[in-house]
Amino acid sequence: MHHRGDHEQGAPELLSPLQRLTSYSVAAGRIPYAAAVFTPIRARRLTLRPVTMADLEDVYAYQRRPDVCRWMLGSEPRSREQSQKSVAAMTGEDGLRVEGDVLSLAAEANGRVTGTVELVWRSRADQTAEIGYVFNPEFSGQGLATEAVGALLGWGFEEFGLHRVYGRCHAGNEASARLMTRLGMRCEARHVESYLFRGEWADRFVFAMLAREWLSRSAALAG
Ligand SMILES: CC(C)(COP(=O)(O)OP(=O)(O)OC[C@H]1O[C@@H](n2cnc3c(N)ncnc32)[C@H](O)[C@@H]1OP(=O)(O)O)[C@@H](O)C(=O)NCCC(=O)NCCS
Repeated sequence: MHHRGDHEQGAPELLSPLQRLTSYSVAAGRIPYAAAVFTPIRARRLTLRPVTMADLEDVYAYQRRPDVCRWMLGSEPRSREQSQKSVAAMTGEDGLRVEGDVLSLAAEANGRVTGTVELVWRSRADQTAEIGYVFNPEFSGQGLATEAVGALLGWGFEEFGLHRVYGRCHAGNEASARLMTRLGMRCEARHVESYLFRGEWADRFVFAMLAREWLSRSAALAG
């Protein structure tokens, strides 16, 4: 069930996503955060749904791998106990209720968790969130991560009412940069030597997409 706040009372229910976004964005202060608590999204080959402790084995299967952590800040291959803590934390990240909240979702295909995607609500005022994703290399090369991140972007723009979603990655993380490019996100910046990564200054890409870009791309892909 999507929870609709008082500020939305009286808003027409039968608008297309584009009409909805347009009507919301013209009215300053009418922030369209419709879905505080997440309900599963069905994509073509995947379902995105909240993480549960039963996902531990599937998540540990990739969190333990050095290649998965290679480009991730502060991340080392995890022990089973560390994965248990990580999964427990993710089980609490099941909705975006207040600014700063994280929505973590398991991308499930054929009964296996192939990876997780997340949306971090960075700014309520600016209707902005940051996207993140980690997938098991066992399932790579099939477009599953792209499908999952695309489904979460769609939810963020069309259901939650975001204006802008950005994603950041180490400039050496080619698979991640390719994924965001594939989804139509613009590379807005390369922040040179902007952060310390494993003791060395590293460059970071910032990719972003706006709601109107998402909608025009979705319309073009559909048509
Ligand atoms: C980033 C990450 C999710 C990308 O995984 P991935 O396997 O490249 O992504 P996908 O599952 O979307 O697969 C895309 C690949 O499948 C191919 N593909 C095959 N069928 C496809 C389809 N139907 N749709 C899209 N792509 C398809 C694509 O061409 C692409 O190939 P390429 O790598 O040669 O360009 C993965 O590398 C990862 O989890 N890394 C570790 C964690 C990490 O660094 N996260 C990001 C932190 S910023």
